[in-house]
Amino acid sequence: MGSLEDWPEPVVCVQSLSENGNQVIPNQYIKPKLERPSSCLNDVNIPIVDLSGLVTSREVTMKQISHACREWGFFQLVNHGVKTELIDEARDIWREFFHEPMEVKKIYANSPKTYEGFGSRLGVEKGAILDWNDYYYLHYLPFCHTKWPAHPPSLRDVMEEYTKEILRLGAVLLEVLSINLGLKEDSLQNAFGGKEAGACLRANFYPKCPQPELTLGLSSHSDPGGMAFLLPDEQVAGLQIRKDDQWATVKPAHNAIIVNIGDQLQVLSNSIYKSVEHRVVVNPNKERVSLAYFYNPKNDLLIQPISELVTTKTPSLYLPMTFEEYRRYIRTKGPQGKFQVESLKSPR
Ligand code: OGA
Ligand code: NI
Repeated sequence: MGSLEDWPEPVVCVQSLSENGNQVIPNQYIKPKLERPSSCLNDVNIPIVDLSGLVTSREVTMKQISHACREWGFFQLVNHGVKTELIDEARDIWREFFHEPMEVKKIYANSPKTYEGFGSRLGVEKGAILDWNDYYYLHYLPFCHTKWPAHPPSLRDVMEEYTKEILRLGAVLLEVLSINLGLKEDSLQNAFGGKEAGACLRANFYPKCPQPELTLGLSSHSDPGGMAFLLPDEQVAGLQIRKDDQWATVKPAHNAIIVNIGDQLQVLSNSIYKSVEHRVVVNPNKERVSLAYFYNPKNDLLIQPISELVTTKTPSLYLPMTFEEYRRYIRTKGPQGKFQVESLKSPR
């Protein structure tokens, strides 16, 4: 296993590869044949949930969310109360950051210790096949020393406002999911550490790619955390989910925030809800920007199936593990489909 002290080889910014004019991508980005994106794919309309329905037609909306969590692990929130201008600003400001000169971005170069800052790889295995992606990783909660970029100057204010909205949505949805699982409404939030739940952002930049058929912007993975809130790029498709063993491209609705179940909710719900594999394909003519916000359990709590969901008929499927320990895996190995959560299965 590589160590999390430092990267195993010099990190190459993918945008600089994209801009060097080469029509051939370096070998280190060429995926094995079976992992490459196939050309004839279906679009998929993942369920749309009108969140304002929680007030106007609560029962129907609760049922829709329950169905989406059980059958899809993914849904799109509309009428979520986050202002369109704020959504647009958040996306635009990160696009602007990624277009800052290399010297500026390099100031924030990250290390695998915390991943916080500007980076271009996930995992520390020397010689690993890499993804066509640059990103900026920010730990927002617990409050400590969030590594905000100083440019663009309004980034911090915009993102603090956007974060408030994500935390609001996270709290609302954890309540809904708790009730839908037959638990007390604060059950999942408490399992996340109550007010000490964690939140971190991965702002993704997928530069244009001259050979998109050979690589991926982000390899297949399920999100390791609790619940993810994704602001997709509405102009450029790219997100694919594995549905019925086929890859399908997500068509985001206007102003939607895509929500998906992460591995920690799969564990807490004893697999009633499942995290779903997803990946990102890249584009020859267009760059793509997305913001993935993760709402997570507090780092040092043991996460295991909630006791009310463990019965003689439904025994506990997973061994307890803290999120801190759990996330070391993706930080070391990079994205590996659903391998990690499967490996938590308790021996029976
Ligand atoms: C992620 C992710 C999807 C996207 O950052 O975990 O799945 O569309 N992103 O960028
Ligand atoms: Ni993801």
